[in-house]
Amino acid sequence: IQTPKEKDDPQFNGADIWGVRPGHPVIFRVPVSGLRPMTFTAKNLPDGVTLDAKGVLRGTAPAAKGDYDIEVTAENAKGRAVRTIRLAVGDMIALTPPMGWNSWNTLCHRLTQKDAMAAARALEESGLGDHGWAYVNLDDFWEMNNFWTPKERPQLRGKARDEHGKIIPNPDFPDMKGLTDYIHSFGFKAGLYSSPGTTTCGGCEGSYGHELQDAESWANWGFDYVKYDWCSYGEVFWRETQKLDGDSAREAKVREANIKPYRLINECLRKQGRDILLSYCQYGMAKVEEWARENGANCWRSWEDLKDGWVWMEKAIESRIAGEYWKWCGAGCWADPDMMIVGQQYSFGGDHPTYLTPNEQYTHVSIWAMVGSPLLIGCDLTKLDAFTRSLLANDEVIAISQDRLGKVARRIRHTDAESVWVRTLANGDVAVALVNRAPLSHEIRVTFDELGLRGTHCLRDCWTGKCEGNYGGYYTATVLPHATKLIRIKANDCPKCD
Ligand code: GLA
Repeated sequence: IQTPKEKDDPQFNGADIWGVRPGHPVIFRVPVSGLRPMTFTAKNLPDGVTLDAKGVLRGTAPAAKGDYDIEVTAENAKGRAVRTIRLAVGDMIALTPPMGWNSWNTLCHRLTQKDAMAAARALEESGLGDHGWAYVNLDDFWEMNNFWTPKERPQLRGKARDEHGKIIPNPDFPDMKGLTDYIHSFGFKAGLYSSPGTTTCGGCEGSYGHELQDAESWANWGFDYVKYDWCSYGEVFWRETQKLDGDSAREAKVREANIKPYRLINECLRKQGRDILLSYCQYGMAKVEEWARENGANCWRSWEDLKDGWVWMEKAIESRIAGEYWKWCGAGCWADPDMMIVGQQYSFGGDHPTYLTPNEQYTHVSIWAMVGSPLLIGCDLTKLDAFTRSLLANDEVIAISQDRLGKVARRIRHTDAESVWVRTLANGDVAVALVNRAPLSHEIRVTFDELGLRGTHCLRDCWTGKCEGNYGGYYTATVLPHATKLIRIKANDCPKCD
């Protein structure tokens, strides 16, 4: 475990900016770690917004667009800390990559409402909520399933919609509104999943032909996030495009057919009175990076499903444009190389701790933070071991992911032996990831010229939180097999390390 022990006095963590659309509900838990009890106070709250006893901003965003800088103070028996949190009221949400939990990698087809409630409780009890983790997202299998009904869940077979076409959750989700109320009570946010096709990838009820109705149901239930998975929409797409051979406008029409279901769901979501983050899941097809943002995506899957193995992870971060995410990503819209594969997983036909080695897990979390991926924990939070928790509660690493500038990492070197990624941060510091791709330890060297730096600069190891002193000209580190050295180079030199 490299992450330093948590301090007792209040520490502000995670994002210091939250985007909300005018007049829409606000729910943002200001992440603060430190001993409880803790009291929270705020100055400069806009009308309609309050800060509750848990440090959650709640209420309704002002009707007038603008940046509202709120000064939040957190105090406990060991000390006090102050941070300015910006409530950015405007058209854009997801100003930093979403952080939370998703059910798929661990529960798969077994998901129930009780599990989602347990996950929310675990986010709270593990303290991860104090480090910025906030979304509790249902993946597939909250719906009815008449296609591939799991043998052990015959109750998923039956009427998937009522006589008006309104979607009916499966009997293991008896109270969707109760579920989101419960998630919101912690200051967390709720997400769910659907498909533009008639069925989802797991064979559950999809949204095809019911898009507006479904968006209304999700909003009425109180959801804040939807992952929209292409899946059986392939059939519709095929019908629409199969006769285009020889058509001079074929390319444009095919592109349009790819965009169509995502444009439609975005329009339906934007008619709702709350912000619902839209996550595209179409595995990076049809150059999605070029049209995702303008069609309402807040994140877009860049590749296929990620499995817990080094080879898969390498593929995900080498996918078509991974080294180039920086061209497309930033506040409001992020590339998504898929959910995180740390902790207890269900994959390759069974339940097990991740097949990534500890070194590989450091690489995984480092790169996901550097490239601005949504950070969605895919593991069973009720079985969180100390090592996995340490990977998820490292505030210096999270600070890179949640950096307000939103300028994601650029890969400046990629050889069989190593990769080097560089990310400029809001305060002028530069984060650098030195990734050892080889199965043997070796030294990785980076020159300040390559990083565009001059003079001497103070340098910190982000995982250990240790200051390494002043460097000029170059930096070199011995990196363990498949591990990553993640450093933060300060804009200036430091008189002394503390
Ligand atoms: C697809 C997605 C996964 C998951 C499953 C659910 O495979 O890529 O992330 O949502 O569908 O069936």
